[in-house]
Amino acid sequence: MSGAGQPVALGDGLVVRDATAADTEAIFARCREAFGAAEEPAVRRALEIHGVEAFAVVADEGGARQDGASQDGAGHVAACASLQSRTLRLDGVAVPTGQVEFVATAEGYRRRGLARALIERLHARSARQGHLLGLIFGIPYLYRRLGYSRAPGGQPRLQLRRGASLAAPPGTATRPATPGDAAALAALHREAQAAAQVTTDRDDRLWPSLLTWPGEEDVAVAERDGRVAAYARTWRLGARRWTFEAAAADRLAATALLAGLAADAPLSLAITDAPGTPLGSVLVDAGLHLDAGEPPYARVPDALALLRHLQGLLEARLAASPFAVGEATLRLNLYTHAVALHARDGAITAIEPDTPVEDVAVGATTLPPERLAELLLGARDIAELEGVDPDVRCDGTRALTRTLLPARLAMVAPE
Ligand SMILES: CC(C)(COP(=O)(O)OP(=O)(O)OC[C@H]1O[C@@H](n2cnc3c(N)ncnc32)[C@H](O)[C@@H]1OP(=O)(O)O)[C@@H](O)C(=O)NCCC(=O)NCCS
Repeated sequence: MSGAGQPVALGDGLVVRDATAADTEAIFARCREAFGAAEEPAVRRALEIHGVEAFAVVADEGGARQDGASQDGAGHVAACASLQSRTLRLDGVAVPTGQVEFVATAEGYRRRGLARALIERLHARSARQGHLLGLIFGIPYLYRRLGYSRAPGGQPRLQLRRGASLAAPPGTATRPATPGDAAALAALHREAQAAAQVTTDRDDRLWPSLLTWPGEEDVAVAERDGRVAAYARTWRLGARRWTFEAAAADRLAATALLAGLAADAPLSLAITDAPGTPLGSVLVDAGLHLDAGEPPYARVPDALALLRHLQGLLEARLAASPFAVGEATLRLNLYTHAVALHARDGAITAIEPDTPVEDVAVGATTLPPERLAELLLGARDIAELEGVDPDVRCDGTRALTRTLLPARLAMVAPE
């Protein structure tokens, strides 16, 4: 495997290393203990699709075990995490991405740096595999300590308005999805993604696997004239049933889907918004803002490499703007490092390392390095960032920064 690395001793008999086939059952048990039975199908899917070699483990080889780890079936595996290769698309440009998943440390080993050791190892593997971006869908806050921020932008969650008129249109019906629906659902998902500017590709193997072993996830479809025309993936979120992903071919199918979902408990339904899609269109009338949703965490390990990868896209944005004529330079000052982009007559002539300044530089766009993912992936544009973070400055560079790095609508899924 191109991303393999040497085992590293952490002390106390603990060793962080890449997983092997012999670790499979122990990893499975460690994840089950950390995430509960509800996540079992997702762990099985990951092992099936990405293989056990996607994981790294901290193995207790010296009996440093401090709890009943040996009794929970996970044996020597004190902690585990995996790295999956994915493709994120930013305005259609493919960005090779490494997604960290299934970070789990046995209770008796927590707060001793095991998750950090695993994630840092996976970051090194990710760099060797050529990933230009890191992505994590995870619990709040923790990943900020590892250089991540909330990006790309989230999709707000809505609830149904009291009295929203959602009668199933004639000729429509809803039912649970079956494995035979896989191709139809994949097509509906792709169609919905066309409304967003930041998306993640989905592995074709997901749908058949998901529909065969849905676990605690419910997948519903709406049919119109006997054909699948909409679907929703839902799970329980506290007292609510949350539709975290849904798509519909048109407004009639979206209405049928919502009517079906709302049939038993309309007011406990939460639905992730999908602006620009037929479902989003129906939700403009039927939905009411509930919360901001759960954006993923992202990390840009090498700003220069990612900006160079995006050169063609940046050039297209520039060429379509008032900066298409004449010279322009964007200095991105990240306090600890800096990158400069030089452009002439709509063409980017160089993207190169620049000298960082600790003091805020006039004529430069300055932001904390951990906020870079938010800017590059369009979670917020520079003016929005400036409004929420006093460490962000862009005097005299607001318009150019916004032209090159505008806010973007995202529709990204954990898998
Ligand atoms: C979350 C979890 C993986 C942390 O594992 P760990 O080995 O204890 O983590 P570490 O000791 O390496 O801590 C890494 C950093 O995160 C911080 N941290 C750890 N757990 C945290 C938590 N629950 N909330 C906030 N910060 C946390 C630590 O302080 C540490 O920061 P520092 O290195 O800057 O001091 C572990 O508690 C666990 O398995 N929880 C259940 C499963 C889960 O929720 N996994 C995450 C799914 S996305």
